[in-house]
Amino acid sequence: MDTIAHIRAGIEDAFAAYERKFADSLQTDNETLKDVFRYIHSKRGKQIRPMLVLYTAQLCHSVTDKSLTTAVALELLHTASLVHDDVVDDSPTRRGAEAIQAKWTNKVAILSGDYILARVISLIAEVRNSHILSIISGIGQALSSGEILQLHAGGSMWIGEEQYMRIIEQKTAYLFAACCEAGAESAAGSQKQVSALREFGKQLGICFQIKDDILDYSDSEDLGKPTMNDIRDGKATLPLLVSILRAPENEAQEIIRLAEGLATKDKSIHPREAEEDIKAFVMRFDGIGYAYKKMQEHKQKAIEALSVFRDCDAKRNLLLLLDYTIQRIH
Ligand code: IPE
Ligand code: IPE
Ligand code: MG
Ligand code: MG
Repeated sequence: MDTIAHIRAGIEDAFAAYERKFADSLQTDNETLKDVFRYIHSKRGKQIRPMLVLYTAQLCHSVTDKSLTTAVALELLHTASLVHDDVVDDSPTRRGAEAIQAKWTNKVAILSGDYILARVISLIAEVRNSHILSIISGIGQALSSGEILQLHAGGSMWIGEEQYMRIIEQKTAYLFAACCEAGAESAAGSQKQVSALREFGKQLGICFQIKDDILDYSDSEDLGKPTMNDIRDGKATLPLLVSILRAPENEAQEIIRLAEGLATKDKSIHPREAEEDIKAFVMRFDGIGYAYKKMQEHKQKAIEALSVFRDCDAKRNLLLLLDYTIQRIH
C-alpha cells in the first residue's frame, strides 16, 4: 500500500461513502459530458482535499452527511480548476493521461469545467450552512484571482518572493484552508478549532504548491503531467526566482534571456537546450534547497496550528498528510 492509500485507510468507511457521492454527482444526460465525466472519474487524483475535509471533521467530532457533501463539492471544485488550468497552461497531460482539452477541445474543457462548477453550487446549497457557503464561494474568486495574477498581464515574469507567495496562497493554499475550515464546520467544531484548522490548511497548501513547483524541475516519470511546463509557459517559480537572485549578474541575465525566449517561442532559442540550461542553473544555485527550506518553515507553522488539539488518530493522520505533501513524488 502506498503512503496516501495508507493514510486514506484510516478513514475507510467515510471515504467509501464520499466516493459513492462523488460518482453520483457526475451523472448527466448529456452524451459529451457523460464521456468527459467517465474519463475524469477513471482518472481520479490523490484526493487529498476530501481527505482533509473528512479528517478535520473527525478531529472536531465526527464525519457527518454535511462533511461528505462538502468533500465532494471541494474535490469537484478542484477538478474543474484543473480542467481549466490545463487550458490556461497549455499542458497536454494530467494524471498520466491526456488532459481534457487535448483529448477533446478547449471549448469542451471550458464548458465541462463550468458544468462541474455549477454542480458545486447545487451541492453547497444542499449543505444548508451559511458559513460553509461563504467559505466555498470565496474560493472560486481567490483561485481565479491567483491564476490571473500569475499571468503577469502587462508585467514581468520576474516577480519577487512576496508576489510568488501571494499567487500560491490564492491559487492553491486558499482551497486547502477552505477544506479544513469547512470540514471542521461540518462537524460543528468550535470557533477556536475552525480557525486553527483553517490556518493548518493554509500552511499545508503553501507547502503543497511549493512542492508542486519543485516537482516541475524533476525528472519524475511518475508525475503524470509534463515537467518544465511552468517555464515553457512563462511561469518563474520559487526555485528559479531565488537562483536568479543568487547568481552573478551576467549568468542571471543569460538565463533570463533563455527563459523569456522559451516563453515567447523565440525561434533563435533551442527549446530542449534552453530547458536543460535553466534546470542546470537552478541546481547549481540550489533553488530547490531554498524551496525545501521555505516548505519546512510553513510545515512548522502548520504543526503549530494543530497544537490546540490533543493527540488522537485524526490529528496523527493530518500530520501524516502534511509529511506526505512535502515528501510526495507525484
Ligand atoms: C494539482 O493538485 C494542482 C496544484 C494545486 C498543484 P493535485 O496534485 O492535488 O492533483 P490531483 O488531484 O492529485 O491530480
Ligand atoms: C496550480 O498550479 C493550479 C491550480 C490552482 C488550478 P499549477 O499550474 O502549477 O498546477 P499543475 O502543475 O498544472 O497541476
Ligand atoms: Mg498547470
Ligand atoms: Mg505545477
